[in-house]
Amino acid sequence: MALVDLPEWRALQEHYEVVSKIHLRSLFADDPSRGERMAATVGDAYLDFSKHRVTHETLRLLVDLAEARDLRGRTQAMFSGQKINTTENRAVLHVALRAAEGQVIEVDGRNVVPDVHEVLGRMRAFAEQVRTGEWRGHTGERIRNVVNIGIGGSDLGPAMAYEALRDYTQRDMTFRFVANVDEADVVEATRDLNPEETLFIVASKTFTTVETLTNAVTAREWLLARLGDEKAVARHFVAVSTNRDKVTEFGIDADNMFGFWDWVGGRYSFTSAIGLSLMTAIGPDAFMDMLAGFRAVDEHFLNAPFEENVPAIMGLLGLWYDDFFDAQTHAVLPYSQYLRRFPAYLQQLDMESNGKSVTIDGSSVDVQTGPIVWGEPGTNGQHAFYQLIHQGTKLVPADFIGFVEPFHTGSGSLGKHHDLLTANLLAQTEALAFGKTPEEVAAEGTSGSLVAHRTFPGNRPTSTLLLTRLSPHTLGQLVALYEHKVFTQGAIWDINSFDQWGVELGKQLAQRIEPELVESAEPALSHDSSTNALIRRYRTGRGRP
Ligand code: F6P
Repeated sequence: MALVDLPEWRALQEHYEVVSKIHLRSLFADDPSRGERMAATVGDAYLDFSKHRVTHETLRLLVDLAEARDLRGRTQAMFSGQKINTTENRAVLHVALRAAEGQVIEVDGRNVVPDVHEVLGRMRAFAEQVRTGEWRGHTGERIRNVVNIGIGGSDLGPAMAYEALRDYTQRDMTFRFVANVDEADVVEATRDLNPEETLFIVASKTFTTVETLTNAVTAREWLLARLGDEKAVARHFVAVSTNRDKVTEFGIDADNMFGFWDWVGGRYSFTSAIGLSLMTAIGPDAFMDMLAGFRAVDEHFLNAPFEENVPAIMGLLGLWYDDFFDAQTHAVLPYSQYLRRFPAYLQQLDMESNGKSVTIDGSSVDVQTGPIVWGEPGTNGQHAFYQLIHQGTKLVPADFIGFVEPFHTGSGSLGKHHDLLTANLLAQTEALAFGKTPEEVAAEGTSGSLVAHRTFPGNRPTSTLLLTRLSPHTLGQLVALYEHKVFTQGAIWDINSFDQWGVELGKQLAQRIEPELVESAEPALSHDSSTNALIRRYRTGRGRP
């Protein structure tokens, strides 16, 4: 049955007509314990969802919807290795990447958990060799710089986590991440490095991604221009991929390849060997601690009742705004400078997963699917775009992410930062929920038209995710929360959250256009008139008339 025809959906629609007219001020006034009761915990994470435009009845109806769409059954199907990525006929088993040794998860009758731990063991050995200096470059120098070359899921996860866990990294080493095919990326990442001390990790699930291979070739030329000996490649290049043939074809020794499997989606892959750069940076034990954080949330998602299930609640609340309030975007606002790349990471996770317009059987969806995800760390965003969230015409549901413990303490000014940071987080969610009425503004002595300008409507929904301290373990929990949030929504929309056909057309056209930009004589152009004109203009600018 179509989603909108389900009785559970209709019940939510009717309920929306009532709840959407109630202000958060009334919801809080009517229920003094709302702030304590509308909360859920998992591991080190506390989710306060009381500042949402929901009642207990809303949550009950959302849970009814999750049950009607068999969220539990779909979750079990994912965790048990069923091929839920139907368009690619693949299992979806990122949860197996953090399964404990001894667990059994089968794909086509094979228990994949021992394979996962075998690769983790190889990664550990390699990371330790690099960190201790046992792994030497071609000229015998110790490796001091690691450059990960990858894009999308082969970049964003490790790059985000490296930034997030900077304080846990081996500080006498340099780690960089090259993704963009813009030559500026690889040039800037290598310009001050000594090639004798530099190791490249070429990370690509398919090992066919043009950006990554182009950057890898440029990096190899950079290395060889200085070291001059082809044999150097073996000591300075390793690969992470599912495609052994392509890795060997590129010239990287298969012994220096770390594998993973087609049941790991790119954007769900940084707990696979794609995390090799991260493991080298933070050390194998911290990496394993991160996997344990993921695992804690995986188990919670699989087993906890939906009413207490943090990722399920996050997913259901997001869907409430997306589909009933017609909110177009979702802001993620970490109050942690270390999490500055987290919104970018979530953009791929969420938008590549749930930016879909057809259901699993190929019919058009009849509701809005994934939101536009965006954000910047607080407090920077407060001095940039929060104006619109407070007083603009759009409803922007937002996640505020904070930590109880600071990293850097001290008796002087340094010791004050974290309290100030947290005060800002709490102040923003309070202001967004409750606003400031015209009467309150007038009572402060403002009059005339200025009252309207200084009024805050409030009723702007937020979640607050408060964790203990940013660590490998809590970062694992945080990422797993969002992975399963995205899964929850995709399951209810009945879309395939694990393919990404929408990236293909642009790739194909770029392959066609590139030679047309480069050929010395003007090629016959058969694009639309806009694309033809732009190609001609570019060619003229490059002196290729
Ligand atoms: O942009 C499409 C995509 O396939 C992503 O899903 C993926 O993370 C990225 O490209 C990189 O792919 P690969 O790891 O195969 O180079």
